[in-house]
Amino acid sequence: MWTRHSGFCPGSRETLLISREGAGTLPPMSWNYTPAEDLHPFSVPCTWAAEAVAELEAADKSALWKPFTQMAGYVDEQPVIIERGQGNWLRDVRGRAFLDGVSSLWVNVHGHGHPVIQARIRRQLEELDHSTLLGPTNVAAVELAQRLVDLAPGSGQLSRVFYSDSGSTSVEIAVKMAFQFHAQHHQDAARKRDLFVTMTNAYHGDTLGSVSVGGIELFHSLYEPLLFKTRQAPAPDPYHRAFGQDPLEHERRCLEALKTILLEERGRVAGLVMEPLVQGAAGMLCHSPGYLAEAAALCREEGALLIIDEVATGFGRTGTMFACEQAGVVPDLMCLAKGITGGVLPLAATLATETIYEGFLGDHTAYRTFFHGHSYTGNPLACAAALGSLDVFREEGTLARLAPRIDQLSERLSVIERHPNVGDIRRVGVMTGIELVTDCATGEPYPAAQLVGRQVCGAALERGVLIRPLGDVVVLMPPLSITEDELDLLCGTVLGCIDEVCA
Ligand SMILES: Cc1ncc(COP(=O)(O)O)c(C=O)c1O
Repeated sequence: MWTRHSGFCPGSRETLLISREGAGTLPPMSWNYTPAEDLHPFSVPCTWAAEAVAELEAADKSALWKPFTQMAGYVDEQPVIIERGQGNWLRDVRGRAFLDGVSSLWVNVHGHGHPVIQARIRRQLEELDHSTLLGPTNVAAVELAQRLVDLAPGSGQLSRVFYSDSGSTSVEIAVKMAFQFHAQHHQDAARKRDLFVTMTNAYHGDTLGSVSVGGIELFHSLYEPLLFKTRQAPAPDPYHRAFGQDPLEHERRCLEALKTILLEERGRVAGLVMEPLVQGAAGMLCHSPGYLAEAAALCREEGALLIIDEVATGFGRTGTMFACEQAGVVPDLMCLAKGITGGVLPLAATLATETIYEGFLGDHTAYRTFFHGHSYTGNPLACAAALGSLDVFREEGTLARLAPRIDQLSERLSVIERHPNVGDIRRVGVMTGIELVTDCATGEPYPAAQLVGRQVCGAALERGVLIRPLGDVVVLMPPLSITEDELDLLCGTVLGCIDEVCA
């Protein structure tokens, strides 16, 4: 039984003091934090008139079909219509300020309205809005391609950049590239390399190709008749391992299973598609850098390409610029999106090694061209935003400044972890999943219909903190620019809401 020793005091620094009765060895759970209404940076008043808000809300419900949203329930809720963003905060048309605790779905890096990124986009807008990459090229797309090549793991080994517009398309492109590379490289082989190995619980996006390499039952199973076949290797997530099994032993067994698939399908596997270190949408399921390095080695041995999806993990989210750096792995194909523009404009890139690129070369009649492209491929405004974001990384030392925030987060989470309804906390860098259970001793999940994760996030919203759950996993994914006070608010609010909802 947990009891709250002192409540929340609106308008002052809040103190959360919770301790566990009878747990003499545990220190009380406590830290001070400033509430959202006193911490947000908005000085410009919100000027939306009540009638204008009502009109917007009505149109929101009658005209918009929102992603990953059961609209039948949504129409009964009061919408949060964002009108302004500043720093790590958002404000809605009703004047409510929210700390952006999920980086606007894992995209925002340096906060909203960063002046360096804004200036780059403004300058670009004056020079060129859009021009196609089919035929001509454009200055910003070229400059960014070079910067990405220089930045990517392997010091230039990932030497070619193919642009698109979303994480899903970046993966779709990698899969098509891998397939076509093998088709052109092994033209005389008796068996085709047309099979992809993927991970259980993987999420790589929502287009049919990226859904094919995904593995989240709820999102993907309905589309099965439309998907191409894959072989799924068990993702080595230590929390959901067989009871009593040692985590390292579990990881070793998962590697063995991957090896078995590669051997059973010898000569057929075009590539292994995986998220490095963290399977984000699966509920922040983590594996060790060692697993990633071993998986990469197995791919090399079997001639399968390694396709690393850094859409969520890339651009500092795991504490290093790219997660695969932590395993010393250079993939054959690397997918980037989300944070690439600092979270300001849609852009994605699939990076390929020179070997893969060369596999597409030939004269026109050899038909080795990569016949893929989108109307807005290499959009200069998005590329300018990405260049601005990379400037900020360099000028502000974003990754160095993030290190103490990661330590602070780790410290706060070590307290949250002791809550009896927290079954597990998984974190790499700032990517965090807090798994809620009925009892941490048994790990018994809540009935799905109870929507506990949703309730916790709903309670956090009331307190000015915007987060979004994955089932009963509460996800924290703050912008890398989060301040010490904001991080304390985020963690304190989440702990308070878990305690309130799960009591
Ligand atoms: C690892 C990963 N890959 C791909 C995607 C798809 O990206 P997008 O939503 O930009 O299509 C996501 C989105 O969450 C992701 O987490």
